[in-house]
Amino acid sequence: NKVVLAYSGGLDTSVILKWLQDVYQCEVVTFTADLGQGEEVEPARAKAQAMGIKEIYIDDLREEFARDFVFPMFRANTVYEGEYLLGTSIARPLIAKRLIEIANETGAKAISHGATGKGNDQVRFELGAYALRPDIQVIAPWREWELSSRQTLLDYAEKHSIPVEMKKGKTSPYSMDANLLHISYEGRVLENPWTEPEEDMWRWTVSPEAAPDKATYIEVTYQHGDIVAIDDVACSPATVLEQLNKIGGANGIGRLDIVENRYVGMKSRGCYETPAGTIMLKAHRAIESLTLDREVAHLKDDLMPRYASLIYNGYWWSPEREMLQTMINASQTNVNGKVRLKLYKGNVIVVGRASSTDSLFDESIATFEDDGGAYNQKDAEGFIKLNALRMRIAAAKRLK
Ligand code: ARG
Ligand code: SIN
Repeated sequence: NKVVLAYSGGLDTSVILKWLQDVYQCEVVTFTADLGQGEEVEPARAKAQAMGIKEIYIDDLREEFARDFVFPMFRANTVYEGEYLLGTSIARPLIAKRLIEIANETGAKAISHGATGKGNDQVRFELGAYALRPDIQVIAPWREWELSSRQTLLDYAEKHSIPVEMKKGKTSPYSMDANLLHISYEGRVLENPWTEPEEDMWRWTVSPEAAPDKATYIEVTYQHGDIVAIDDVACSPATVLEQLNKIGGANGIGRLDIVENRYVGMKSRGCYETPAGTIMLKAHRAIESLTLDREVAHLKDDLMPRYASLIYNGYWWSPEREMLQTMINASQTNVNGKVRLKLYKGNVIVVGRASSTDSLFDESIATFEDDGGAYNQKDAEGFIKLNALRMRIAAAKRLK
C-alpha cells in the first residue's frame, strides 16, 4: 500500500506527507524534482528521512524539461490568451510522467500531489497520470481534508511535530511556482486585479527603470527551430534557458501581469517572470520569418492557440497534442540560422536575422531597385483583378 508523493520539502507537502501516513496508513515514496527552480532539492532528503520515508527520489530533470518540453513548445511560438508563456503548465506533464514511472518502479498503486481543488495544476497532474497509467489512484489532499487555511496547516504541523525549520525561513506571501522557464506569483495582494505588485516581489528581473542605460546585444543560433548556441558558444537546452534568463533578467525583460481564465472556470490574476522565454519567442519568430513558407507559418499560427490551450488545460499526453507536435516538429526542418537581438530596458528588439542554408528571402526579387526581370509587375494586374472579381460582382449588383 504505497503512494508516490510529489514532494517539494516545503510546509504544504510536508503536511500532506504526514497526513497520508496518518489518514491512509500508507507507505509514502517521495519524489522531488530539480526543474531549475533555483532552490536546493537535497534538503528534501533529510526532511523525508525525518518523517520515516525509506524510498526517496530526488531527480535532476533540468535538461529533460528544457529539451523535451520547453523547446518543443517554443517551436510553436506558444502563448496562452495572447500573453502567458505557460511556464507552470509545461512542467506538470513531466512531473506526472515521473510520478508514474516511480509508481511503476516501487510498486505503488497511487500518487498524490499538493495542488488545490481550485486550480489548473490538479487537472494537469491527473490527466497526465491517467494518460500514462489508466488504473492509477490519485489522492489530492486539498480536495479531501479540512485544513483549509494557512493557520490550520501550521497548527497541524505543530501538532504532528513536523520539523520547525519548514515553518520559518524565507517564506513569500505569494503562491509561487518556479522552474527554468519562469516564476509565477499568485494570491494575496494580487487577488485584487487593480493592485500593482510591490517591486520586491520580482526575483529574476530588474525593473525596466533599473536596467542598464546601454543595450546588450546577443546572437542566438537555431538548428531545426531550437537554440543551440548563444554568441557562437554551444549550449545545452537547459543552459540556453539559464543564460537567457540571466541576460534577460538583467535587462528587465519578461515581466507579465495578467488575469487569465483557468480551466476550472474561474478567472485568476497572476504575475510571471519569463526572461528567457520572452527572448526565445521573439527570436524564434524572427528566424521563422526568414525560413518558413508563408502558408506553413500561417497554418502554424492558426493552430497555435489550440496547442496552447491543450498545454494549459493539461492535455500534453493526449493524442491531439502529439498529432500537433508531429506537425510542428516537421515544420522546423529548415528553421536554421541566426538571430541578432538588442535587449534594452524590458524590450527585446530583433535587429538581424540570417540563414546561410535555408533563407527564403530573395533580395533580387524583393528589391526596390531593378530586379532584372525576376518579377514581372504586369502579372500583378491579373492577380488583383481576379481577386477583386467577386467584390466587383457584388458592388455592381448593389449599385444597380
Ligand atoms: N496560473 C498559472 C498556470 O495555471 C500558474 C500556476 C501556478 N501554480 C502554482 N502551484 N503556484 O499555469
Ligand atoms: C493550485 O491551485 O494548486 C495552484 C494554482 C493552479 O493550479 O492553477
